[in-house]
Amino acid sequence: MASPSTTRDPQALLRAGAARHAAGDLAAAERLYRQVLKAAPQDPNAHNLLGVLARQRGDVAGALRHTERALAQQPETAIFLANRGAALAEAGRLAEAVAALRAALARRPEDAVTLRNLGQALCALGDAAAALAAREAAARLLPAAPEPQLALAHARREAGDAAGAAAAAEAALARSEDRPELAAQAEFLLAALGRGTTPARAPAAYVRDLFDQFAPRFEAELTGALGYATPALLAGLLAEAGVVPARALAVLDLGCGTGLSGVALAPLARRLEGLDLSPRMLAEARRRGLYHALHEADLLDWLPGRPGAFGLVAAADVLNYLGDLGPALAAIAGALVPGGWAAFSVEAGAGAPFALGEAMRFRHDPAHVLALAAAAGLAPVAQREASLRTEKGRPVAGALFVLSRR
Ligand SMILES: C[S@@+](CC[C@H](N)C(=O)[O-])C[C@H]1O[C@@H](n2cnc3c(N)ncnc32)[C@H](O)[C@@H]1O
Repeated sequence: MASPSTTRDPQALLRAGAARHAAGDLAAAERLYRQVLKAAPQDPNAHNLLGVLARQRGDVAGALRHTERALAQQPETAIFLANRGAALAEAGRLAEAVAALRAALARRPEDAVTLRNLGQALCALGDAAAALAAREAAARLLPAAPEPQLALAHARREAGDAAGAAAAAEAALARSEDRPELAAQAEFLLAALGRGTTPARAPAAYVRDLFDQFAPRFEAELTGALGYATPALLAGLLAEAGVVPARALAVLDLGCGTGLSGVALAPLARRLEGLDLSPRMLAEARRRGLYHALHEADLLDWLPGRPGAFGLVAAADVLNYLGDLGPALAAIAGALVPGGWAAFSVEAGAGAPFALGEAMRFRHDPAHVLALAAAAGLAPVAQREASLRTEKGRPVAGALFVLSRR
């Protein structure tokens, strides 16, 4: 029998490529798929699999190109529609993604992966009711898997079904024995529902997935209906504290997201760096062309590696994903030059040092924040209470701080 590298039979090459692909050898799989295209340039299966491979590598343009070519040959094939939908979702073309994923499911209803992708795309579009239906169906198809239960728990919580959300989160937890990352997310959700102990922070994987899904509509929503004001408020408080917009400081925008905060900080910065957990938020920030460097990392892991590197570290609407602010404030202080500035917002609550709200963000007692800041070597310079934005029609009460490193 001819080996895959010498055979010219497209079907044999395709099978060999798929085997390498399944084994995780993407380079070998790609070579074999491309050999198929040499013999049969329109081969829809080769294009479909090259599309999947491109998506796995984060090459969204390649995924779109190949899935389009597969569908041009066979517009009715469910798996091609499913992969096209997944590629469109990656590209943030959510309405088109939903149409393709629905078309795939109409032809192959028991496809749990496509149901999951549909639930995610609908959620990113803000259609909570339809996302819930897709996630209920995915969880029914894969009753033993933790991920669909966790996704279902989130969808139920967003739909206001706290008891149903808790039941699904418990089910996810019970199925996550050997998956500590998923177990931590289920426990975090249960804590937000008032069941179980409050963890010291939101799990990084939860924050990353949340903002990866939110990235395509983040700016439109925040600057539109939600009236997001934190970056401008922080810049105003910095000006009051005497930090003038002289483009003189090395500035770090912690949790930079899509760069709304970077826009407000840029007039202060000789050099502007951004850091975020979410690759999709960072991709939006990169498009702005505003930052000298962007880093994908958890702030608690990254800051200790940059001692004394910045004249200003700012965090707009970021520290509400952390409960215990002690480690973050110490890390921020450590990354500042002596006399450098820290500027950040928190969602304000009174009583407990911190509390986890139903919206899965932490609120902090401003007096406790100042005590932790003092322990970290950060002295208060200016402070203000403010509404940070609206949520479900109500203002979100916040506190803004500017401190300087002693
Ligand atoms: C509400 S957005 C704010 C984005 C931006 N600062 C602004 O004002 O538009 C919060 C951002 O903080 C990031 N974030 C939250 N916790 C983080 C952490 N521990 N490390 C790095 N980034 C984090 C999220 O990924 C998200 O992009």
